[in-house]
Amino acid sequence: MDMTFSKAGPLRGEVSVPPDKSLSHRAAILGAMARGRTTAAPFLRAGDCLSTLSCLRDLGVDIRLQGNRLQVEGKGPEAWRQPGGVLEAENSATTMRLLAGALAGRPFRCEIDGDASLRRRPMGRIIEPLRRMGARIEGMGEGNRPPLVIEGGNLRGIEYRMEVDSAQVKSALLLAGLQAEGETRILGGRSSRDHTERMLLLMGADLSCEGEDALVIRKSELAAGDIEIPGDISSASFLLAAALLVPGSRLLLKGVGLNPTRAGFLSVINTMGALVMESGYREACNEPRGDLEVGSSSLTGVEVEGWRIPALIDEVPLLAVAGCRARGATVVRGAEELRVKESDRIAAICGELRKMGAKIEELPDGFLVEGPCELKGARVDSRGDHRIAMALAVAALCAEGETVVSGWECVDISFPGFAGLLRELVA
Ligand code: S3P
Repeated sequence: MDMTFSKAGPLRGEVSVPPDKSLSHRAAILGAMARGRTTAAPFLRAGDCLSTLSCLRDLGVDIRLQGNRLQVEGKGPEAWRQPGGVLEAENSATTMRLLAGALAGRPFRCEIDGDASLRRRPMGRIIEPLRRMGARIEGMGEGNRPPLVIEGGNLRGIEYRMEVDSAQVKSALLLAGLQAEGETRILGGRSSRDHTERMLLLMGADLSCEGEDALVIRKSELAAGDIEIPGDISSASFLLAAALLVPGSRLLLKGVGLNPTRAGFLSVINTMGALVMESGYREACNEPRGDLEVGSSSLTGVEVEGWRIPALIDEVPLLAVAGCRARGATVVRGAEELRVKESDRIAAICGELRKMGAKIEELPDGFLVEGPCELKGARVDSRGDHRIAMALAVAALCAEGETVVSGWECVDISFPGFAGLLRELVA
């Protein structure tokens, strides 16, 4: 599906952004591993999280979603039963990797598959440590890629040093560790998002940190509870960037998750000169949240080094768009993980922004943009990746003429209604 955007007037208004995607996945999965009724609200009713719900239902978990309120009747992982067919994670790597970790503890054989994009994504990073814990797990695609066949049970704790700083890998090991004999020690990986750790602690798991970078989990039962999910800071970032870049804009984004392991985009745009005010800060269910007020700002280029990437991993394509409008060079390095996301996000954002007249050069692990440059409307392609589609829409709002983004339907993966919301805010 094509979606057309043109140069916009100021964006104004007050918005509640969609609920956090990472937390919605985790509330459903941990709720299904807990004992008792877990509720999560508001739950993100979007493609990826619906994939998680459908896999859990196939495992026999009693789940109800009414409006945006999720209710899970947890009976512990022991009550999960062998699914009748293949579990479909569709586009969602979070579904596949986190469920693989949980299923590594279950003594039945099952298969979990994904769409063409997910079938290209690396799974060796979870397969290798889960095998060391005693699970039988195999990637049936080339180079250990999906579909995954898992036959778990009888896990033992291991000590594992993370090779990639990935929250999905860390979470898979935590969910396996929860069912393993002895201790599972995960070394490194503390700078990626820590939602799983926070929710496990909320539910009473025996989880602790030893020293700077060891995370230790021991076999434990989880207690069900009520989880209040904040707005997704990644979704908020698209609106934030639009308001920053379109002159005369002012937006108030309410109840946005402000977990420090997710807030890297805020600190980088702050360095670039963005005016963003935080207020109403509070913590609920172990997760901080608050309101963000943003006004259009003139930006200067910035250099972003690798250590900063985990806290803004999903916002890097947006930084390329901001870099186009900033004065001077914006350089991102150490972001090679972007090449194995829903698309090769480095190639995608550089290639598509270039069609709009951006002076952007692809680097092996990032990019270099020379700003400011006048963007012009063009026909661009989402490459089937929701975050690329939305980043291009933001670019389109400050480009001369019309921009047509093809493959727009992928936006439903994380932010259904994004185009309509942008239009409302401009009107
Ligand atoms: C996610 C972790 C990140 C992120 C993804 C969601 C999660 O992936 O890019 O959109 O919910 O754990 P990695 O952990 O592989 O970096």
